[in-house]
Amino acid sequence: MEKIQMMLFLFCFFIFVMPCYSVSPRNFPIIPFDEGYTPLFGDHNLIIHSDSKAVHLLLDESSGSGFASHDLYLHGYFSASIKLPSDYTAGVVVAFYLSNGDMYEKNHDEIDFEFLGNIRGKDWRIQTNVYGNGSTNIGREERYGLWFDPSEEFHHYSILWTDSKIIFYVDDVPIREVKRTESMRGDFPSKAMTLYSTIWDASTWATNGGKYKVNYKYAPYIAEFSDFVLHGCAVDPIEHVTKCDSAQSSETVPSDVTQLERIKMENFRLKHMTYSYCYDKTRYKVPLPECVIDSRQAERLRKFDPVTFGNGRHRRGKRHHQNKVTSF
Ligand SMILES: *[C@@H]1O[C@H](CO)[C@@H](O)[C@H](O)[C@H]1NC(C)=O
Repeated sequence: MEKIQMMLFLFCFFIFVMPCYSVSPRNFPIIPFDEGYTPLFGDHNLIIHSDSKAVHLLLDESSGSGFASHDLYLHGYFSASIKLPSDYTAGVVVAFYLSNGDMYEKNHDEIDFEFLGNIRGKDWRIQTNVYGNGSTNIGREERYGLWFDPSEEFHHYSILWTDSKIIFYVDDVPIREVKRTESMRGDFPSKAMTLYSTIWDASTWATNGGKYKVNYKYAPYIAEFSDFVLHGCAVDPIEHVTKCDSAQSSETVPSDVTQLERIKMENFRLKHMTYSYCYDKTRYKVPLPECVIDSRQAERLRKFDPVTFGNGRHRRGKRHHQNKVTSF
């Protein structure tokens, strides 16, 4: 099977290149910032560029900043091109995420892309996570390095959310697929959410579990955004009625990972993943039921971090990984 996949990949790569790839994020309509979004906080640190095609979010000593979508969405494809701050960025977090935490205090849903800054000379890390119906005590974090420097150029970061799966993309590479399983029950996000993007000071946890803090000598930290795509089933924020029917929304959002994309995803994960809750033995003695363990990945992570992913080398006493505490 693997051989066939590889041959298919090579065939497509050399003969056709483009036609083998499925719909790219660029095929969805790109909207001006004003049309889809509104400032959320730190208004003086949110700079909208004249034509509303790009936005800068700043973090300085006075505040971070952020924006939110006008509408709520029940499923869809959400994307932006993002260029992250460069140089010393320890403690800085840039987030691109869906949430309904402002409406559901106890049982909110959330789908996160989080960019974790780093000390000089070390790369940004990406973290993805999913919560459903208030499952905040069950972390489903994954973290990865990237195959490029995200502070050098704009890259597309996208979230696809349907009734049955969530896929995170970096440019056109799916990096994670969360399938809705029976065992996840309410933990799979199922209520309409707002799209947010923010930059903030996460000195307490973002870099080596809080070891390196934000240094305002390097402020302002500037995250740049463009190519806004909000392609989903909009829900009126007051009336909570959808503005489209579900058949329509699932038709317009392609949700299948092609063979080729799956190969790219596996390659990415085997090369760049640095943390996965499914392999974290200090946190979950038995992996959560939705976890599908890949023996190559298990082996790789075990070599990379024997304490977290190893066998029979548990630390005594307190758990190493609390919710959202990062250690890499
Ligand atoms: C979500 O949580 C609430 C209680 O907080 C519960 O009543 C409800 O059944 C849950 N929904 C799902 C889909 O699990």
